[in-house]
Amino acid sequence: MKNLLFTPERASTFAASVDSLYFYLVAITLFFSVLIAGLILFFTFKYRRKSDSERPKPIHGNIPLELMWTIIPFLITMTIFLWGVIIYVKYFEIPKNAMEIFVVGKQWMWKIQHPEGPREINELHVPINQPVKLLMTSEDVIHDFYVPAFRMKMDVLPGTYTEAWFEATKPGTYHLFCAEYCGTKHSEMIGKVIAMEPEAYEAWLSERINPTATTGSSSKKQGSVVEIGAELFKTSRCDTCHNTTSAALGPDLAKVFGKERKFENGATLTADEKYLRESIIEPQKRIVAGYAPVMPTYKNQLDEEQIIALISYIKSLNPEEAAS
Ligand code: CUA
Repeated sequence: MKNLLFTPERASTFAASVDSLYFYLVAITLFFSVLIAGLILFFTFKYRRKSDSERPKPIHGNIPLELMWTIIPFLITMTIFLWGVIIYVKYFEIPKNAMEIFVVGKQWMWKIQHPEGPREINELHVPINQPVKLLMTSEDVIHDFYVPAFRMKMDVLPGTYTEAWFEATKPGTYHLFCAEYCGTKHSEMIGKVIAMEPEAYEAWLSERINPTATTGSSSKKQGSVVEIGAELFKTSRCDTCHNTTSAALGPDLAKVFGKERKFENGATLTADEKYLRESIIEPQKRIVAGYAPVMPTYKNQLDEEQIIALISYIKSLNPEEAAS
């Protein structure tokens, strides 16, 4: 289907299904607007007062009519609801083979980090025909990552992670907006998503990882996010307590991600990125059963990108779980 009406370009696997639902809503709205306006006009003439002495007969309700105008709208709204749920579920089920990209929003820019190492500002390069998962957080206030051509939009919150995914279907450059008012330069918090053929993306990526001499670039080889995290794990002295010796004060982090954690108070939780982040920033909030509450907070000592790197490193220690 070509782009109808005023919809933006369609460049993701979501776009068509979101548009169909949208057109359905517009069609229903048009149908009832015309029907109601038409009936008002029609009745105005049909039941107009024809003589000064005319008095209308009082009406005391009409059960079949009332049932009809209750049941029919109910059924129509339920189709909208069910159709919406189907799209919503698809939107929140991140495919297992999705590649992961990290997004940090701040007043007023988008910082993008590829797991392989390259960083971008207000630009995001992705391959087409490949699901891409975004793990996002904010350094300050609430932002909202919005790519109209992908029909993809997700709040970016300080203090936690949100996730979203998309699969671009055709190469091109698409608008990236911040869709949550976030201060003076909110309207300037814009960028570009560049969808590329997979081979072109690979070439772009390897050039960024290891700049060739031909470009005259002086930047040196970039480490991957996991490598940065491994380095931080040492420099932040995480390994003082989180190690495999019998005297270790903290849990061995090789067996954490994706696993169920049992806490002092009996509660349990499956360790995901949000939990790891919380354990770094607010280590006293949940104490794993069998350990003492001795970990200091790393709040204000690590920035969001460093925390993401640490989490990536911890995930990499448990590759089977991290992949699922
Ligand atoms: Cu960030 Cu609006």
